[in-house]
Amino acid sequence: MLKLASSNYILEYRADFPILRDGVHYLDTASSAQKPRAVIDAMTDLMETQYANIHRGLYKFSQETTTAYEAVRSKVAAFLNAPSENEIVFTRNTTEAINLVAQSWGRTFLKEGDEIILTEMEHHANIVPWQLLCDQIGIVIKTIPVLEAGTLDLDTYQTLLSERTKLVGVVHISNALGAINPARQIIQTAKAHNPEIITLIDGSQSAVHGPVDLQELGCDFFVCTGHKLYGPTGIGVLWGRYDLLDAMPPYQGGGDMIEAVTFDQTTYKAPPARFEAGTPAITEVIGLGAAIDYLTGIGMDEIAAHEKNLLDEAMTALNEIDGLTFYGTGQQKAGIISFAADWAHSSDIAMILDQCGVYVRSGHHCCMPLMQRFGIDGTIRASFGLYSNSEDIKALVEGLHKAGKMLA
Ligand code: ALA
Repeated sequence: MLKLASSNYILEYRADFPILRDGVHYLDTASSAQKPRAVIDAMTDLMETQYANIHRGLYKFSQETTTAYEAVRSKVAAFLNAPSENEIVFTRNTTEAINLVAQSWGRTFLKEGDEIILTEMEHHANIVPWQLLCDQIGIVIKTIPVLEAGTLDLDTYQTLLSERTKLVGVVHISNALGAINPARQIIQTAKAHNPEIITLIDGSQSAVHGPVDLQELGCDFFVCTGHKLYGPTGIGVLWGRYDLLDAMPPYQGGGDMIEAVTFDQTTYKAPPARFEAGTPAITEVIGLGAAIDYLTGIGMDEIAAHEKNLLDEAMTALNEIDGLTFYGTGQQKAGIISFAADWAHSSDIAMILDQCGVYVRSGHHCCMPLMQRFGIDGTIRASFGLYSNSEDIKALVEGLHKAGKMLA
């Protein structure tokens, strides 16, 4: 699976990713990661050898696929160090996981005037579901400000906590800045203020860029998504404390989440089945399981160290280019670099980079309030994955020089 790197890095995994042909410099892993052969093969293999619907058939294919599907629940629990696989709910993505919490937990346990605290750097997925609740039941959203370096203003956070605070929801690693937020400290501060405050961590980026230990973190809900974890699209994860999940009503109704249905009364299964109505993303769950096996085989610490090396190398090179402003310059950073040039618009630069085979994202990164905070309409974002290497950084720098010649 692994071969020695041609660059400065200890190991290189690029050959495991069929899409990363020569000349492809994929620097948009924060948006969605490319897929290793192991994931592609696991999904194909399932469909070629034993695919059937789960939890429903007494025949061999259904039984085997059910076992394989449920085994991934345990894998996810182990990967995140969750106390129990019964706390792992499969969703469509992070967005659906947060909507589930907002609509099931929020609509049940929040009331008009209750306050929730988010941050100014949240992805829209951790803003809009709560805004829907503002419209539906009149909760109030407060936000922790972002400082100039792209870090959170934790002094102001303290002042936002009140007797009305019911939830604190924070992105663990900002997809737009790469800032690693002190999630544990933020959770502990909330719990010290009032142990009843529920904490939700958006781990879409943190689950990808390094190890996550839910028991150490101490949050109540944690969400992440398969497609950023080198797995397929269409599969996400909600982890919730079992007592919370158990007290929550279903989010959607349908097959597989019920105990008994009559037209007079329907009773529901216990979590996690209660929250998985209908035929789930079976093939995608198998793909997610293969992705977790693949990542575990490499080691999340290794991946974090690899990306840190890339970040340092890239920042040294990019700092040599005139007219760039960087966003997210705090000490705690994952392999995500956000910047804008004073000599051209980000989207024009991204189009030139595309012609050089350098794929970056430009724009607001689904974080419009964060962009408004910095008074900009967007940035160029280069984000690394476990397959990124020095050649990608070189291509990015050369592409920026070319863009500078054409646009400046
Ligand atoms: N949230 C993804 C990104 O940051 C889509 O690009």
